Amino acid sequence: MPPIEEAKHVSRWIDELAEQDYAIIDNFFEDDTLKLINTFFKGKELDFQPAKVGQASIEKRVPEIRTDLTYWLDRARDESLLPFFVKVESVREELKYGLFLSLQGYEFHFALYPSGGFYRPHLDQFDARSNRMISMIIYLNQDWHLGDGGELRIHKEGLEIDVQPIMNRCVIFRSDCLLHEVLKANKPRRSLTGWLLKRPSGVGVLGI
Ligand code: OGA
Ligand code: NI
Repeated sequence: MPPIEEAKHVSRWIDELAEQDYAIIDNFFEDDTLKLINTFFKGKELDFQPAKVGQASIEKRVPEIRTDLTYWLDRARDESLLPFFVKVESVREELKYGLFLSLQGYEFHFALYPSGGFYRPHLDQFDARSNRMISMIIYLNQDWHLGDGGELRIHKEGLEIDVQPIMNRCVIFRSDCLLHEVLKANKPRRSLTGWLLKRPSGVGVLGI
C-alpha cells in the first residue's frame, strides 16, 4: 500500500476512536501473520487456564462473571509471534502520535470461550488501578454466522451495539469508560485480547 493510503486508513479508525470511543478494523492482520497466530493458538489450547477477575493480588476465578479460558503471551518466550508484536507496536505508535496518548506497554492473551461461554457487562479498568488505557481484541473465528451468539455488545448512551466476532476483525476501544460484555456463545469462540498500558505491565501494579 502506498504511504498516503496507509495514512488515510490509519486516520479513519483513529478518528472513530476519538469520536465514539471505539473503532472496528476488518482484515487487521496480513495473511501470513494471521496464519501464524491461528496455528499458534491451536497448538496452545491445552495450556489455557480459566480466566480470573480483579487485580493481580486479589484476582479470582468467578464463573458467574466470565467463563473464558486464557493463555497470556510473553514477547520473549513466544518469539514465533514476533510479527504480531510488531503490529501491536505499530498500533501503539499510531495512538501515541494520533491521539497524544502516553502508552508504554501492553499485555495480551488468547481467549477461548467454550460453547455457552460469556462475559458479563464490565469496564476493562480495574477499580484500584487505571493502567489499561485501550482495549484491543482480534477475533479468530472462521465461519461465524448470525445465531452463533458470542457478539461483543457495547453499551453506549442507551444504545446496544453488537459486533460479530468474525475472523481477522479488530475492535479497539477505551478501557476506562466503555461498558461492554460478551453475549453467550453457542459454539467455541476464539480471540486475541489485550490492552495498551499507560505504564509497562508489572510496574506500579498497586499504583493508581
Ligand atoms: C475482555 C472482553 C470482549 C470480547 O476480555 O475484557 O471484554 O469480545 N472481551 O472478547
Ligand atoms: Ni472487557
